[in-house]
Amino acid sequence: MNKKIVIANWKLNGDQTFVKDFIKKINSTQKKIFENIQIILSPPIIYINYMFKKINNKKIFFASQNVDYHDKGAFTGEISPYMINEIGAKYVILGHSERRKNHFENNTLIAKKFFSIKKNNLIPILCIGETKKEKEKGLTKEVLINQINQIFLTCGNDAFNKTFIAYEPIWAIGTGKNESPNNINKIMKFIKNYIMQKSLNKNIKFKLQYGGSVSDNNVHKIIEEKYIDGVLVGSASLNYKIFLKILKKISFREKK
Ligand code: PGA
Repeated sequence: MNKKIVIANWKLNGDQTFVKDFIKKINSTQKKIFENIQIILSPPIIYINYMFKKINNKKIFFASQNVDYHDKGAFTGEISPYMINEIGAKYVILGHSERRKNHFENNTLIAKKFFSIKKNNLIPILCIGETKKEKEKGLTKEVLINQINQIFLTCGNDAFNKTFIAYEPIWAIGTGKNESPNNINKIMKFIKNYIMQKSLNKNIKFKLQYGGSVSDNNVHKIIEEKYIDGVLVGSASLNYKIFLKILKKISFREKK
């Protein structure tokens, strides 16, 4: 059985005390809980290397929350895919709605980053999703197609092979509101079919994550759905007690 995937996106949260405490807790958690789950932690980048070294379980992976698409040069403040690789991260989250909104990242820039991430042997976790207004106007599929198409345009027909796509309806992020598991599944199926149909290689493999107010109260229902490979957890990943509950719910389900 394929392992379900849990990505913990800390966003701009945490400090050295928090990081040390998190490491202590994860290192003293029963290993059994992690066996059936693939965990990817995405703290702010400056903590990744420390966590990479201090977390005993080497099957826990790391994702950067951002990257520049240049390899090196005069780009003050940026971080390259090579550097991300070097500090122990294997994944990069990109296209998150908060970066689209607060940092004016558009589909063209995101596609350039996607290309560079793959070129540097990192795995992109591409976030896509619609606003509340777009949903109400029935534009969800159109928005998702636009976000996906630019990646095809920039990176070619097999762009999505060995990548992650996180469907995150913007209205569900940090709001406590959820899309119903059944609807998420329908959208995931649509995303999967759309990508498969546009890809030349029919053997490509990619993972579909759901994100947006995932908690210990709803994760078991979300994870049951056929087209959902895992979840992207924001605020609930900042409280270890709740995060552990999420992991246990997934782990328990896998053993059934
Ligand atoms: P949330 O965030 O779980 O706090 O809604 C998810 C995300 O933005 O990735």
